[in-house]
Amino acid sequence: MAFKLTVNGHATTVDVPPDMPLLWVIRDVLNLTGTKYGCGIGQCGACTVHLGGQAVRSCLTPISAVGNQPVTTLEGLSHDGSHPLQLAWQEIDVPQCGYCQAGQIMSAAALLAKTPKPTDKDIDSAMNGNLCRCGTYLRIRQAVHKAAEIAGSTSKTKTMVPAGQER
Ligand code: FES
Ligand code: FES
Repeated sequence: MAFKLTVNGHATTVDVPPDMPLLWVIRDVLNLTGTKYGCGIGQCGACTVHLGGQAVRSCLTPISAVGNQPVTTLEGLSHDGSHPLQLAWQEIDVPQCGYCQAGQIMSAAALLAKTPKPTDKDIDSAMNGNLCRCGTYLRIRQAVHKAAEIAGSTSKTKTMVPAGQER
């Protein structure tokens, strides 16, 4: 069955079964492999992408549920690695093995788009469903604060919005 999609600002059509999870469409059909498969049952957050600006678990989202909502993956966060979260993640050197980090960053991006100056509590609550086996939670929290600071210092609130979701 054919589905029209907008992924990271690009319109595309995929011919897949309606129950295929968005995760497989992203990774196997569109070859955007930044988004990771962890548990496949909505428990780890590794597969987090944005659907219509909301952070969703793409392993639990059938392609038929996407409709005309834009999809943004890690690759669409910025065109050149300049999103405040990408800069902060590098500065704080957050990842260890890195496997969970695409999901962590996409959850953080959804948080910052709505809450530009989050408290520790806001961060912990928004990132609660994103697991990290390497235990990078403290650096993640630090990097989210850093990203908020970078965005604030450049006064470009628009930079908090992933490239595919600009209006
Ligand atoms: S792979 Fe989707 S939540 Fe774990
Ligand atoms: S950095 Fe290894 S699972 Fe998070």
